[in-house]
Amino acid sequence: MGFHYSVMLTETISLLDLKENGIYVDLTLGRGGTSSAILSRIPCGHLYSFDLDEEAIMESRERLASVGTNFTILHANFRDFVSRLKEIGVKEVDGITADLGVSSPQFDEAERGFSYREDAPLDMRMNQESSVTAEQIVNQYSYEQLRDVFEKYGEDPYSKAIALAIVKEREKKPILTTGELVDLIKRVKPAKERMKKGHPAKQIFQALRIEVNQEMDNLAQMLDSFDSILKPGGRIAILTFQSLEDRMVKDKFRSLTVVEGSREGPDLLPEELPEAPYLALTRKPIVASEKELSENHRSKSAKLRAIQKKQK
Ligand SMILES: C[S@@+](CC[C@H](N)C(=O)[O-])C[C@H]1O[C@@H](n2cnc3c(N)ncnc32)[C@H](O)[C@@H]1O
Repeated sequence: MGFHYSVMLTETISLLDLKENGIYVDLTLGRGGTSSAILSRIPCGHLYSFDLDEEAIMESRERLASVGTNFTILHANFRDFVSRLKEIGVKEVDGITADLGVSSPQFDEAERGFSYREDAPLDMRMNQESSVTAEQIVNQYSYEQLRDVFEKYGEDPYSKAIALAIVKEREKKPILTTGELVDLIKRVKPAKERMKKGHPAKQIFQALRIEVNQEMDNLAQMLDSFDSILKPGGRIAILTFQSLEDRMVKDKFRSLTVVEGSREGPDLLPEELPEAPYLALTRKPIVASEKELSENHRSKSAKLRAIQKKQK
């Protein structure tokens, strides 16, 4: 069974302020660390856990079953979580959490194609049933499309040169493996870049993974829909691992907790000022403690934000 260190688990659980009989949603089941921690604290409630990775679901089902029976696992994209829950009769929930990105087992299994450290087919699909792989993107996107993906989702300063090198290389033969792509990136980046900390292919691999799995789109859809199922008093806590995701969560949470213009207060009495529908539970994002950082390097880029829906 693959091991996954659940990042900022204590902080996430504490922000959710779990009620024994509450209804909770874990949008990213993964290896079940967060889900089992929730389940053990809600003996009279129910937990709904989502993942689009069949392997993650198979492994976590047993782990959750050893904690309790009051859970339901849904093999679905969290972008549709509200409609999937409503379809099975869930109208309101007390809390929602998400721990975005890839789990350690996904990354460690070379054949999934997420890792730049192993040679494997260029795959990177979180959902093994979805059709678009990294290989298709690398071999079929135009130069402009590749450049845009690398710039937008990888913020790699060599995006243009790498996109160009890919287009040239595939005229000779298709690029089929992670190893071939890593070699190409290393050839494009000058020696001084390759000496820098971090793997030279990290940003391009991140960009491809985001594009293959439509991660930004999924997050945007989820952020636009959770309000319609969260009870007054309910909370949502989201853990992100890169700046684009964090910006999206930060902007959405800000739009729900701050009423623009209300600070200046026009000619309105205090009770007439429009009130924001949510309360910020984290003014600044929570980051991992020194202790956690020493135990798990993946916690380094993690940011945790949470808000609470106000009672009517
Ligand atoms: C970082 S792991 C979660 C780890 C989990 N908190 C734990 O303690 O084991 C992220 C998981 O989210 C899943 N995932 C990513 N995007 C998703 C989406 N749009 N819908 C459903 N699951 C998704 C991935 O397949 C992966 O298993």
